[in-house]
Amino acid sequence: MPLTPFVLLGACWTGIVLVWLAWAAGRLTAWVSGRPAGPAFGQGFIVAVLHSQWETAYPGINRAVVAGVFAALVAVLLVPLTGGWVWWQARRGRADDPLPSLAHTREVAGLAPAGAAARAKDLRPGLAGKPLQPADIGLPLGVLQLPGGDGPLLRASWEDGILAVMGPRAMKTTAIAVPQIVDAPGAVLATSNRADVWATTHRRRAQAGRVWLFDPQAITRTGQSWWWDPLAAVATVEDAARMASHFVQPMRRDRGEDFWLLAAEDLLASLFLAAATSGAGMNGVQTWLADATDDEPVGRLFDLGYPQTARALRGRQNGAAETRDGIYETARTAARCLQDPRVMAWVTASDEPLPRFDPDAFPVSTDTIYLLSKDGAGSSGPLVAALTDQIMRYAVRRAEALGGRLDPPMLCMLDEAANICPLADLPQLYSHFGGRGINLVTILQTYQQGTTVWGERGMGILWGAATIKLVGAGADDPRFASDISTLIGEHDVATLSLTRDATGYVSRQVSVRRQRILGPEDIRAIARGTAILFATGSRAALVALQPWFRGAHAVTLTEDTAAAVAAISDAADRERLQAVIAEADRYLPAPRDPGGP
Ligand SMILES: Nc1ncnc2c1ncn2[C@@H]1O[C@H](COP(=O)(O)OP(=O)(O)OP(=O)(O)O)[C@@H](O)[C@H]1O
Ligand SMILES: [Mg+2]
Repeated sequence: MPLTPFVLLGACWTGIVLVWLAWAAGRLTAWVSGRPAGPAFGQGFIVAVLHSQWETAYPGINRAVVAGVFAALVAVLLVPLTGGWVWWQARRGRADDPLPSLAHTREVAGLAPAGAAARAKDLRPGLAGKPLQPADIGLPLGVLQLPGGDGPLLRASWEDGILAVMGPRAMKTTAIAVPQIVDAPGAVLATSNRADVWATTHRRRAQAGRVWLFDPQAITRTGQSWWWDPLAAVATVEDAARMASHFVQPMRRDRGEDFWLLAAEDLLASLFLAAATSGAGMNGVQTWLADATDDEPVGRLFDLGYPQTARALRGRQNGAAETRDGIYETARTAARCLQDPRVMAWVTASDEPLPRFDPDAFPVSTDTIYLLSKDGAGSSGPLVAALTDQIMRYAVRRAEALGGRLDPPMLCMLDEAANICPLADLPQLYSHFGGRGINLVTILQTYQQGTTVWGERGMGILWGAATIKLVGAGADDPRFASDISTLIGEHDVATLSLTRDATGYVSRQVSVRRQRILGPEDIRAIARGTAILFATGSRAALVALQPWFRGAHAVTLTEDTAAAVAAISDAADRERLQAVIAEADRYLPAPRDPGGP
């Protein structure tokens, strides 16, 4: 559409409006000063103004005053026009700038300080009558990005479940896990496959309550100071089946479902039940697993009143030798971590009087438990998943006993969830925990990591049940990038094109087309340190993540991290030295006995 007619039309209307304002200024001045009104608005007035016949246009009125009133009227008209123009400019779709088309403060008001504070008061009766601290309001997510610059810091409420999908080094740990753990007002459960989260936060968390570090694979090299009895909470066939599922789930993730896994899961469940009810402990499970013909667990199950499970186990042991051995071998692989004495030390009572961790008391404390495990063979991941699951289940019971919610709420920060804490029913737990004062935060590197663990359907449930979703840098999967682009939506953008005809006349055309606010290629290129935020019920927003090293506690947390890292490296040096001494002892000749021949 050529622009020229619109420009001409606009110029004409502007002229008409200005002349009318000049006339109105005269009328207003005459009325205020009690002089007779001048000519009516029409051709006579316009001609007089155009020919500078001021005495005709404004008879007997001070022209300087008219000029002043005229200027004031123009200003009164310009202020809303300029404001409207600025407002429209900030919101109109632009091909090169997605911010005007993403959520503004009003659309995410529930996460902004005032809205989040109001929700916190509703959800946490314990805050009544107290001055609200920022950390009481909710879990920090990031600073809203607006066309004019930074908006408010957004916080998730105490009934939100969070899912973050961000690639490697995209600030998952530094900008999500650490700040939320540091700020959490109640108990905190944090999983990780590295020492980083513990190193940065444990000293600060120690100010709030006791710090429990579950580290059977000695990632932090700090040694063991407590133990946990995984079978203490196993009292029914269902509890035993849940325990078995934590051991089999990582294999299911790696190789999919098959007969051997199902049978091994069933076998493990029988052994856990026999060990739990007879007091044989994890040592019993490990011993019975080693011998496929050991009938001790069958006898114990009969004695303790589980004849159905006993018969099923006996049938399995009396089946075809190849099948039985295949099932036992699969179960041994699933429970491989129990072959590691370092791991067993954490889950069996010892002569040393170490305190026993109580997963029932934990959810109503302000303690922190770090559950660390390395990926791969022999990983203590099944125990991490089992302990996480037990704490969560006790938390639900505690919440029910307290009238529905934990206050202060408990934070479950599942960093690297797919690798070390692949709880089979995590997607279902999301919707279950929302109203219980239990905040679940699952951090994944890719969406596919989730589908590998929970399947397309399970991951779809998890995605749908998480009320806050953060998608950050590193979304390299084309399908995921395209889906995120679709969810963000489309906007209208105006494009100007210039064409020159044969006579040299240049015509300008503006066309409006609908296009993706952020295409899949833009999603893939999301800058590190920023993330797209999807909050239930509002448009997608862009947030700047707030890593702890740029936050309020940066100095103390940096010192704490440095001290923890130094302690780890000192311990590693000592270990190396001891290994060298042990090696040398093997080769050096034994010292002579001076009293010998
Ligand atoms: N104290 C610090 N000061 C400055 N930069 C830091 C600090 N700690 C970490 N970083 C940087 O922040 C970035 C994000 O680190 P972070 O550990 O949060 O990533 P991540 O998403 O958790 O990665 P991964 O997938 O490896 O766990 C990295 O580039 C890292 O080098
Ligand atoms: Mg990390």
